[in-house]
Amino acid sequence: MNIGNVIMVKRKELGLTQQVLADKLGVSFQAVSKWEKGTSYPDIDLLPLLAAELNTSSDALLGYEYKTHGYYDDRYKENEYFWGVQPNETCLDIIKMMPPVKPLKVLDIGCGEGKDAVFFARNGYQVTAFDLSKDGIEKGKRLAEKCGTHVDFFQADLNDYRLSENYDIIFSSGVFDYMKPELRTSITEHLKEHTNANGLNAIKVFVDKPFIEVSDKKKKSFRYTWKSGEIFTYYHDWVISQMNERIYDCNSGGVPHKHCIDIMIAQNP
Ligand SMILES: C[S@@+](CC[C@H](N)C(=O)[O-])C[C@H]1O[C@@H](n2cnc3c(N)ncnc32)[C@H](O)[C@@H]1O
Repeated sequence: MNIGNVIMVKRKELGLTQQVLADKLGVSFQAVSKWEKGTSYPDIDLLPLLAAELNTSSDALLGYEYKTHGYYDDRYKENEYFWGVQPNETCLDIIKMMPPVKPLKVLDIGCGEGKDAVFFARNGYQVTAFDLSKDGIEKGKRLAEKCGTHVDFFQADLNDYRLSENYDIIFSSGVFDYMKPELRTSITEHLKEHTNANGLNAIKVFVDKPFIEVSDKKKKSFRYTWKSGEIFTYYHDWVISQMNERIYDCNSGGVPHKHCIDIMIAQNP
């Protein structure tokens, strides 16, 4: 798909007219019309704003083909929700710490099939969520619709998507081990910079333990495991409100195994 088609498809998905989109971008509706017809292209410096207004990434606008993990795509194609539809227990801790008594914006990074994003939205937060898997995103959209709520879901890769707005709560569960190790510092700094004052970053990350065997699946996938306790060091200059490490049994994929996960809720002072 060329950029014009992508703009048209996304615009229509959001129910925006060309005029409404043009007004948001400060251009004429004729300009939007020309982009969609393919007779001209948006200026490159307009791409981040255009992507934000269309709830997508600049990569997606440019037709970037994501290299997704077949493992998740295959599971997300099933009707059943692989991760279930009940929220992660950390979401409850977050709600207690930052109840939605005023409009609060949440970002869920690597939202999977959307159970946590939808939970936040149902509880009155304004939620944006992305995942590498298009199948996961589509399922998240269906879950939100079924629950009568709305989440701005889109496909993006956490290694190259950068935020164009601030959030009150940035949440990510079981995804940071897909972050390239050389990007850990820059991405966590970027997330911190895009968190409002007193806002939270709630991160759950799988970590290595010498006594837990690494599965073949993990060895073959693009996973870069973290050291136990490492995530906390990236937030040493914030208030660490919760830090925990848990080892638990898991049966995902039908093979019993163990995981160790570090759970951190840090607050922007
Ligand atoms: C263990 S699942 C967790 C899903 C969800 N957070 C949950 O707790 O239900 C890991 C998720 O990370 C997503 N993922 C993997 N690599 C990613 C990347 N580079 N960018 C964004 N999401 C990614 C996968 O598609 C998958 O949905």
